[in-house]
Amino acid sequence: MNIQRVLVAGAGTMGGGIAQTFAQGGFEVLLYDEVPEVAASAVPRMEKGLQKVVEKGKMTADDVAASLARIQVADDLAPAAQCQFVIEAIIEDFAVKADLLAELASICPPHTIFATNTSSLSVTDLGQASGRAANFVGLHFFNPAPIMKLVELVLTPETSSETAETVGNLAVAIGKVPVLVKDSPGFVCNRLLMPMINEAIVLLEEGVASAEDIDTVMKLGCGFPMGPLELSDLIGNDITLAVMESLRERLSSDKYQPAGLLEEMVDDSRLGRKTGSGFTCGR
Ligand code: CAA
Repeated sequence: MNIQRVLVAGAGTMGGGIAQTFAQGGFEVLLYDEVPEVAASAVPRMEKGLQKVVEKGKMTADDVAASLARIQVADDLAPAAQCQFVIEAIIEDFAVKADLLAELASICPPHTIFATNTSSLSVTDLGQASGRAANFVGLHFFNPAPIMKLVELVLTPETSSETAETVGNLAVAIGKVPVLVKDSPGFVCNRLLMPMINEAIVLLEEGVASAEDIDTVMKLGCGFPMGPLELSDLIGNDITLAVMESLRERLSSDKYQPAGLLEEMVDDSRLGRKTGSGFTCGR
């Protein structure tokens, strides 16, 4: 299928980043968020991020303007009818995602491909909730979406081979490297990454080392671009907690028990960069 126009539902950190990625890849993008202020702030946020890229001489101001001009903020989901590909990056709540997918299914023609950016829910169950399981995949981006090269392309037992091929080609067209993974809790990245971040929080809680020193160990000892605590602040500590809780529940193992300190941070709304306070920022 020839994909030219894409709808991204959810204009938060991930949805905005995904929209920017498609726009930079030359696609027409409709960006929707049910909260108008979130939708309105997404493009200015992209402009700010891209300003630094222009200053570094990696893109021209004209290229940035042309990319951002390809993004239209939609007031409702009706324009999804003109899109060949729809991806949702809304709150990690199955019922809310299922409602959105059902609404999109009532608007889009049958051939439109649906994707979810979920990092913790079952792609198979979401595909069934959409009523178009053969045209449904997980396309899991990494934060910051415009920069990180990987996407996990999650296929369910019902995903058609044509859909898998189309979305794989689409990922390549936006400059990503798709890795095929089965629909399994946390896929590959979060199954490995989140327990490591959680253990870094346990080390901090036990007073084994300071947050800065834990991060330094992993940067200088293991070549990480940023330490696990700074990374949790980037991802959002609420997301780290949600993924750990989902791994514990779906894999029925206390191995994935979230650190008490992580739960406290989330209770105190210290979610990381997005609230200006976390393990490594705003202390
Ligand atoms: N839009 C597009 N490109 C941008 C950009 C933007 N807003 N901002 C920066 N770039 C480009 C820069 O031009 C630069 O390009 P070159 O490599 O060609 O020079 C590149 O992106 C890197 O930018 P910076 O030099 O400013 O960034 P940095 O070197 O300080 O690295 C980082 C920042 C990429 C975030 C790095 O610290 C890193 O890789 N951190 C780890 C991030 C990570 O692990 N993410 C995954 C989290 S897990 C997840 O997201 C899954 C989940 O489900 C929770």
